[in-house]
Amino acid sequence: MSDREILKVEDVSKTYQAKAGEVTAVDSVSFTADKGEVTTIVGPSGSGKTTLLYVVGSLEKPESGEITVSGQDILDPGTNLVRYRRENVGFVFQFFNLIPTLTALENVMLPMDLAGVPQEQQKRRASELLERMEVGGRLLRARPNKMSGGENQRVAIARALANDPDVLLADEPTGNLDTATGQTVIDILTGLARGNGNCVLIVTHDESIIGVSDRAFHMTDGRLSEIRG
Ligand SMILES: Nc1ncnc2c1ncn2[C@@H]1O[C@H](COP(=O)(O)OP(=O)(O)OP(=O)(O)O)[C@@H](O)[C@H]1O
Ligand SMILES: [Mg+2]
Repeated sequence: MSDREILKVEDVSKTYQAKAGEVTAVDSVSFTADKGEVTTIVGPSGSGKTTLLYVVGSLEKPESGEITVSGQDILDPGTNLVRYRRENVGFVFQFFNLIPTLTALENVMLPMDLAGVPQEQQKRRASELLERMEVGGRLLRARPNKMSGGENQRVAIARALANDPDVLLADEPTGNLDTATGQTVIDILTGLARGNGNCVLIVTHDESIIGVSDRAFHMTDGRLSEIRG
């Protein structure tokens, strides 16, 4: 194991019970991801990408396998998963998922609020993070419906970074953006890996992201195969 390895997924399977029968969305998947690197999983619709990301982020529980993040076994019943989700992982989604009634600044402050960070500190860090994402000025007080898609996504990335997670999980982060704006978002995510040292895990159907990744996998019918390492 390299000392940069922060995420280890071993033989993980997740099956859903649907009306039409069982669906094995993630089928005996193993991979590792390092800090300072972008790891990308590409695959068609229904191949299990979101399920895999949710399992790593502990939003879904697999039936079997092992997942270690920052040295914590997240499937161990003793692990505090609320804390894990709040402090060790950050999520970026295709549809941004910002809270519509909160301003950009408040959206970024929220995870810190939930973690018990004092208000003044929340405000300072949220402003700094938004500044880094080049969301400033009037936008700090704008609500999501008054911002462009790219602006929404940059706010969402700032929010994901609020509690300084080791691992950033991005589900189709460019899926709702035009090509140029999507490129900016990918530049930001790769910059966070290479500059900030985050472990960035992207799942997407967009094969062009493979080219900017340090490690890439194909996902088909719940199974993973490495493209290059
Ligand atoms: N909550 C659920 N209940 C039942 N089946 C589900 C559920 N969520 C996903 N599935 C099924 O699991 C499989 C994988 O779905 P998943 O959403 O992980 O795919 P995906 O690769 O993210 O697809 P897309 O590119 O369309 O987002 C699909 O067959 C899907 O129908
Ligand atoms: Mg998906």
